[in-house]
This record gives sequence, C-alpha cells and structure tokens, in this order.
Amino acid sequence: MKMENRVAIVTGAGQGIGASIASGLAKDGAFVVIADVNEDNARGMEEQIRSEGGRAAALKADATSKEQVDAMVESILAEHGKIDILVNNVGIIRDNFLVKMPEEDWDLVLDINLKSYFLCSQAVVRDAMIPAKYGRIVNISSRAYQGNVGQANYSAAKGGVVSLTRTMARELGRYNITSNCIAPGVINTPMYQGLREDVQENLRKTQPIRDIGSPDDVAYATRFFASDDAWYITGQVLYVCGGKSVGGY
Ligand SMILES: NC(=O)c1ccc[n+]([C@@H]2O[C@H](COP(=O)([O-])OP(=O)(O)OC[C@H]3O[C@@H](n4cnc5c(N)ncnc54)[C@H](O)[C@@H]3O)[C@@H](O)[C@H]2O)c1
Repeated sequence: MKMENRVAIVTGAGQGIGASIASGLAKDGAFVVIADVNEDNARGMEEQIRSEGGRAAALKADATSKEQVDAMVESILAEHGKIDILVNNVGIIRDNFLVKMPEEDWDLVLDINLKSYFLCSQAVVRDAMIPAKYGRIVNISSRAYQGNVGQANYSAAKGGVVSLTRTMARELGRYNITSNCIAPGVINTPMYQGLREDVQENLRKTQPIRDIGSPDDVAYATRFFASDDAWYITGQVLYVCGGKSVGGY
C-alpha cells in the first residue's frame, strides 16, 4: 500500500496496537503523527520509526480534551497543510460486573474509548478532510462491542464506536471521506501477557484459528482501510479475531 504523500494521525500510538499501526503506515510512506498522552513513549516511537527509515513526529495530546485536540489539528495543518488519515485507537479497560461498577469507571471508559473518537474525528473532518474533499478514518473498536461479561462500560463504548463509524460513513461519503472500523479479538499485548499461562492457552485453543493475533495483524487491516485503493469501502466493521464468535455470541 503506497501512501507517500499522505499525512496521518494515530491516537494512542506510543505503545501497543497504535504503535504497530503508526509503524505500518510509515512503512507505506505516510508521515505519521504519534499522538499520545504519554510523551516519553510517543518520542520513543518517533525515534523507532525514524530508525526504520520512516517519517514521524511525536505530539503530546490528551484525546479526551477538545482544547488539546483542536490545538493538535491546528499545529499539524500549520506544518503539513493537510491531514489525510485519522486512526482513532486510544483505549483503556476498567472491568467490573455491572452491579459493582463505579460511576467514575463508566465515565472514564466512555470518555477515552468513545468521546475522544468523536472529538478527534470532528476536528479533523471539519478543519482538514472536508476542505480537502478526501479522508480515511479508521476506528479501533473491539469484538467486545457485541457485549462481554464484566465489560459493560467497555462494550458500550466500543458499540458506540461502531455506530459513530457508520454515521460518519453516511454523513461524509459525499466528501470522499471513508469511515471504517476494526474489531480486534484477542491480541498479544501486555494485557494478554499478564494473564495466567493456562488462561492464555485456553484463549489460544478456543479460537477457530488456534492462535492469537499480534498488533501487526490489526495494523495490516488498518493500512488497508487507510489506503487510496479502499475508496469504495465505508461504514464497515472488520473483525481481526481469528474467527471467534464473528457476528454473534
Ligand atoms: N489489546 C487487545 O487485545 C485489544 C483487543 C481489542 C481491541 N483493542 C483496542 O485496541 C486499542 C489499543 O489497545 P492496546 O492494547 O494497544 O492499548 P495500550 O494500553 O497498550 O495503549 C493505549 C495507548 O493509548 C494512550 N492513551 C490512553 N489514553 C489516552 C488519551 N486520553 N489521549 C491520548 N492517548 C491516550 C496510552 O498512553 C497508550 O499509549 C484500544 O482501543 C483497545 O480498546 C485492544
């Protein structure tokens, strides 16, 4: 996938799946802004991408702050004149059963996993993509959007991401802006590595494909949606989950 003249923002790209997405887009030739609240990690990724021969810049921004998101978009436009690709990737979990879930954990998870996607999309679409009549938005949801025990807040937020994605596809298609969504299943990240070995093994062996995915597998799907060639694909949810429970429980 060739993206030599493209400018991309990846939120939460300082580590994990976002870091792989940033690295992948840079390998395709895009200039990638690594937007993360953790400045040290963002700078580390900037150095890594540069050492791989890519082009990138770290930018400290809290994706849940309208003020910081608007300032981020303004500064990128001042330097590069455009933003072609937005990958909304930030996410956290605060798992608990519904009856025990503190209100602040509900609010925090909805703010980071859903409101930030709205704020970043709104600013980028309004100030960069509509004026340019071009855009690729990729939102990272989760297979958990179908509903998951202990994840009322996370599932609701990730379901909201799917609905936001489809709404943007309908509203923005006329400007050549596509909006698609990825629903990863179990991915080999620190979250998975922290589980007991037997739980890890059980997760691996209950998948139709008897293994779990890597952040690069999510990055691969993101690069596809973000490419010029995916111009006629919008409003879609692509599962990257080894085939487990696709489309249902
Ligand atoms: N890891 C998995 O197995 C898995 C499965 C399905 C979906 N996902 C989704 O993939 C995405 C990435 O997950 P991950 O495991 O790589 O997470 P991670 O915790 O490893 O990385 C998240 C990054 O987001 C940054 N971040 C958090 N809040 C932020 C904010 N307000 N503003 C800016 N940056 C912020 C963090 O500093 C961090 O760099 C999330 O949306 C997650 O829900 C992950």
